[in-house]
Amino acid sequence: MSASSAPGSRITKAVIPAAGLGTRFLPATKATPKEMLPVVDKPAIQYVIEEAVTAGLSDILMITGRNKRPLEDHFDRNYELEEALRRKGDDARLDQVQASSELANIHYVRQGDPRGLGHAVLCAEEHVGEQPFAVLLGDDMMDPRDPLLTRMIDVQQRHGGSVVALMEVDRSQLHLYGCVAAAPNGDDDVVAVSGLVEKPRPADAPSNLAIIGRYVLDPRIFEVLRKTDPGRGGEIQLTDALQALAADPSLGGPVHGVVFRGRRYDTGDRADYLRAIVRLACEREDLGPDFRTWLRSYVQQEMPQGV
Ligand code: UTP
Repeated sequence: MSASSAPGSRITKAVIPAAGLGTRFLPATKATPKEMLPVVDKPAIQYVIEEAVTAGLSDILMITGRNKRPLEDHFDRNYELEEALRRKGDDARLDQVQASSELANIHYVRQGDPRGLGHAVLCAEEHVGEQPFAVLLGDDMMDPRDPLLTRMIDVQQRHGGSVVALMEVDRSQLHLYGCVAAAPNGDDDVVAVSGLVEKPRPADAPSNLAIIGRYVLDPRIFEVLRKTDPGRGGEIQLTDALQALAADPSLGGPVHGVVFRGRRYDTGDRADYLRAIVRLACEREDLGPDFRTWLRSYVQQEMPQGV
């Protein structure tokens, strides 16, 4: 029986590729995966796993590369540390330390060489099996108050096939993303995708809709990925496999897009990473009041005329 995702096939699994080289963040990522960089006081990847769990996906497969130890350790128990906190009576921190190991059922698979996002997703084939599944990029953070994944799962359940997350970006930025050709589909935030291109030149971009790091995929994508040749940058591109599906839906159902208008941070990019920290710190109940006071006076003193 071949895998398929007719409308309504239940989705329980999330795949989180975290095996990239993280070159934009060197030297911090020389020995640490970029997904482990802290955003305020939690590693970026923990927000991503919390997002998957909130959307009802508690079976997580992480695709790891070199330096995978910190990732595995963070989501594992740390008995020595727990015992030390217990002895000190520091229950609040003990809860925080235990929370990351109790979040979800996390499995790991190794991507030998970082041969691209499409290749990383292909490493999940055996674990995923024949159900549709979500892919969340470990360095792409959505604000927890702007639920995107739940909406994408709804759309996949209604239409079957695969769903990509999209964001309207300035045309000058499109060369940093995958980009889609799309037509309205009735709902204000859903489009039918007829074509996808990875990191296009401005003249070749079919729209201003960029693909961001959330996908809900039909399992037949694995078959397509196996036949996908290396594309842009010599890497096996997920965008190219989705393009094959969009061009011929008999291969694995239609491709739809959900247009996200909420807050998103690319924590693999240094400037966006800093924005995420400032914004989330300002909004925290414990840190926010003091931090906002400091930030206000810093801006007034250092940038009295504006930046
Ligand atoms: P990026 O395009 O951000 O690449 O990958 P990168 O190598 O991690 O980072 P830079 O550009 O060199 O700074 C997008 C996502 O796909 C994962 C990354 O970990 C990231 O979550 N990825 C990429 C893999 O898991 N394996 C790969 O071979 C490539």
